[in-house]
Amino acid sequence: MRRKIIAGNWKMNLDHREGAALASTIVDGLKDKEDLPEVVLIPSFTTLPAVAGELEGSEILTGAQDMWYEKAGAFTGEVSAEMLSSLGCRYVLVGHSERRHVIGEGAGLLADKLRAVLDGGLSPIYCVGELLDQREAGKAESVVEEQLRSVLSGVSRREMSGVVLAYEPVWAIGTGKTATPEDASSMHGHIRDVLSRIFDAGTADETIILYGGSVKPENATDLMSDPDIDGALVGGAALKADSFLGIILYRAT
Ligand code: PGA
Repeated sequence: MRRKIIAGNWKMNLDHREGAALASTIVDGLKDKEDLPEVVLIPSFTTLPAVAGELEGSEILTGAQDMWYEKAGAFTGEVSAEMLSSLGCRYVLVGHSERRHVIGEGAGLLADKLRAVLDGGLSPIYCVGELLDQREAGKAESVVEEQLRSVLSGVSRREMSGVVLAYEPVWAIGTGKTATPEDASSMHGHIRDVLSRIFDAGTADETIILYGGSVKPENATDLMSDPDIDGALVGGAALKADSFLGIILYRAT
């Protein structure tokens, strides 16, 4: 049985005071609630320690938005796996579309980062997704397959149990446009098919695959009721307690 994960990627928003306040409101909002998915908050590096402090004693986990692949040394501006795990961090985003398309990270660098996340004892949330023109040209499936193959080919079957995937069509991120549950479902099925070819059917079946791109309380139930969609990677709607709690509690909405 794959567990459900709802992760909030705060991107470059919320300073340490604002982040601590939001984390504390989310902890309060989930008190006494049962049958919850795993909840993950992914703040900026400077906000992470304050959020981790607020989450102590709760079940909510933290993740980082990025990481460098070397262990230590002269890498100005970067942080290592060890620095993140010393804060109790569990997850690290790798391959988010803003890192690929705004910052310009390519497959080689992403493969190195994903390897370092695993070697550092953390779990990558590896994001894949096509641009609008790639979808319109009928290339969405092949683009996503290449993103999976180029970065996961160096990962073993055993290590895959610690890897979470997120399908985020780039045209749906921050635009208010969500993939229809049918489009998302069909891509999630395709991703499982690619995983069964890279690894095996068991790995394909056990891998957690989140959907991301304008997820909000109003569409969470529809998206998450698909058996191939194991949760959500949420951007904008994770910045407000009401909307993020609405998504976490989607079963009740
Ligand atoms: P969004 O962002 O929910 O604001 O579309 C999702 C993401 O970038 O992970």
